[in-house]
Amino acid sequence: MSPFHLTRQLPEDATEAALRADVLHGLTRTPKTLPPKWFYDAVGSELFEQITELPEYYPTRAEREILIARAPEIAAATRARTLVELGSGSSEKTRYLIDALTELHTYVPVDVSDSALTQAGHALIEERPGLDVHALIADFTGGLTLPDTPGPRLVAFLGGTIGNLLPAERADFLARVRSLLVPGDALLLGTDLVKDEKVLVRAYDDAAGVTAEFNKNVLTVVNRELGADFDPGAFDHVALWDAENEWIEMRLRSRTAQTVKVPALDLAVDFAAGEELYTEISAKFRKEGVRAELSTAGLELSHWWTDEEGRFALSLSVAR
Ligand code: SAH
Ligand code: AVI
Repeated sequence: MSPFHLTRQLPEDATEAALRADVLHGLTRTPKTLPPKWFYDAVGSELFEQITELPEYYPTRAEREILIARAPEIAAATRARTLVELGSGSSEKTRYLIDALTELHTYVPVDVSDSALTQAGHALIEERPGLDVHALIADFTGGLTLPDTPGPRLVAFLGGTIGNLLPAERADFLARVRSLLVPGDALLLGTDLVKDEKVLVRAYDDAAGVTAEFNKNVLTVVNRELGADFDPGAFDHVALWDAENEWIEMRLRSRTAQTVKVPALDLAVDFAAGEELYTEISAKFRKEGVRAELSTAGLELSHWWTDEEGRFALSLSVAR
């Protein structure tokens, strides 16, 4: 059987320190915020997988359609020997790329969720004998040290996860990605596209309530890790379209006036009735905007593919 390595680039206590800092900062400012990376404990990662199968949540199906159609072209254009995937989750769609990349030597999935990495990594080494899988538990918005593996390198960032970063964070992130590439390497980026508001809102407020559960899971994570006493039932899930910024915003609205204690931070947080805690943005893109953001980071758009219905795009760009 081929090797599976799992490297933690986040020391255990760094994760806790980062959560403490984010919760302290986020719950003591106006409006209150929590960063979306804290959704993804084992339960949150599983809830995300359920989201990808919801009838209303089209991005996963649309991106899979593009990958099935275009994986051979991506393979021919990149001839990658190392595939690095940021925010890899279950690596489910990545299998189309792995199968098409005939020269592939090493797959490097990078995620904050060790449960997702371990599950996906073990499945992959069984399914793809001969492939080295070197998983990294790391924050893709921080400094990443990639293993020394053969080039050319293809960095994939799928699912539209780039939309969960604010514009300034995206610029920072793309510049970091650019610094991981040398001439001949490429970035494959998944971006969800601007479309009808009703379709967008439904994708983030599904009838079965799975996205609501996913949103509230961040409260459960803070309860477990910092001893807080959030009652997830005391908050309503909110998903709205911000037309000016062209992003979906997820929030948690306090049903009543309440005080939440966070003992690990010696903190008591007052919520007014109706007050909203901001948990995630999910930006939607247009081709020229993507081209411009890539260009600012020193990346040149070389291919742009969408699904038949034009809902989602995959782009390939190269280091300038
Ligand atoms: N790429 C997969 C999963 C998308 S869900 C797909 O297209 O279906 C987003 C993934 O990014 C989750 O697995 C989550 O754990 C991971 N993630 C979120 N923020 C992260 C961060 N800052 N650093 C590393 N991984 C992160
Ligand atoms: C991971 N990311 C691209 C998802 C999205 O669509 O923004 C996270 C998500 N949030 C609610 N549903 C799915």
